[in-house]
Amino acid sequence: MTYKILLLPGDGIGPEVIEETRRVLGWYSANRNFSFATEEDLVGGVAYEKHGTPATDAMIWKAQDADAVLFGAVGGPKWDTLPFQHKPEQGLLRLRKDLGLFANLRPAMCFEALKDASSLRPEIVAGLDILIVRELTGGVYFGLPKETTVLAGGEQRAVDTQVYTTGEVERIARVAFELARLRSNRVVSADKFNVMVTGVLWRETVQRIHDAEFPDVQLSHILADNCAMQLVRNPKQFDVIVTDNLFGDVLSDEAAQLTGSIGMLPSASLGAKDAGGRQPALYEPIHGSAPDIAGKGLANPIATILSFGMCLRYSFGRSEDAALLEKAVERVLAEGYRTGDIMQPGMTKLGTTAMTDAILKALDKLAA
Ligand code: IPM
Ligand code: MG
Repeated sequence: MTYKILLLPGDGIGPEVIEETRRVLGWYSANRNFSFATEEDLVGGVAYEKHGTPATDAMIWKAQDADAVLFGAVGGPKWDTLPFQHKPEQGLLRLRKDLGLFANLRPAMCFEALKDASSLRPEIVAGLDILIVRELTGGVYFGLPKETTVLAGGEQRAVDTQVYTTGEVERIARVAFELARLRSNRVVSADKFNVMVTGVLWRETVQRIHDAEFPDVQLSHILADNCAMQLVRNPKQFDVIVTDNLFGDVLSDEAAQLTGSIGMLPSASLGAKDAGGRQPALYEPIHGSAPDIAGKGLANPIATILSFGMCLRYSFGRSEDAALLEKAVERVLAEGYRTGDIMQPGMTKLGTTAMTDAILKALDKLAA
């Protein structure tokens, strides 16, 4: 069995963390009865430099053809002043849209060894295990019109459009309910139904899908602003949170920090399965390009390595191999190894490559 993986390192620390994850792919190829055929391409700012666009058609075709895409990060100050359609971030948005990756799974788990690394008290975050399910191809990031116009008198006016159809809400609600059944069977849906008509549609639709198809799952609704507050007040009250594209973007960064560092957390972006059971999928760390530490060998590779773990679980159905990787990360942390972002007194500080060395060694030991 050979899986086709497209590597898209992108900008900033992307290339460093993808390079390390490639070594983890190598470990599985060498130690398991499956392997990987990898291709690599440019996305984001580096793609713009070479091709004048953050996402070429050829890259999108490769992504559509692969069994899974492993994505690093895009963006950086160098490209902040580019016209909107050329911005590195548009490369990622186009991938999500063209591959139909409407379901973004963002787990926020607090590793036991890191409970003191959170900016919240350890008893608030110890054992935390929540999953944010973010709608990823609709809402205000994609709605039209999306434009800046110049008014008479020279003033500018910018418009983004928040838009959802029932179909878009139904399919993300189903993903959340199905995942909840595999966990603690509880879903909280976050919206702003008090001030937005899209919020009213969101709430009614999630409730309807629940009542018709998932009555066994416990569902409650929360206003997105209250959700942000509850996440820092008492995050362990949540199991699965389902929410729209914009709120999910914000709430998932917040949830990530609860666990000690945004450098720890993976994500999966999944599309609909076709008739043959093939499901488009992209895996990426949620941390972004971190231009301040790019190229210095300081980045934490764990979020990307764990994203590959999600790939093993969701794209290839290899839950045991995914669990092995998670155990290896846990072990390395328990042994006191840290990158700078999660460094604590008395621990051993490692760079990007040395952290991966430690994880590979832990895999060897666990598999022995
Ligand atoms: C994320 C990122 C992206 C988003 C950017 C890079 C376009 O913040 O994946 O959360 O806003 O969705
Ligand atoms: Mg974000």
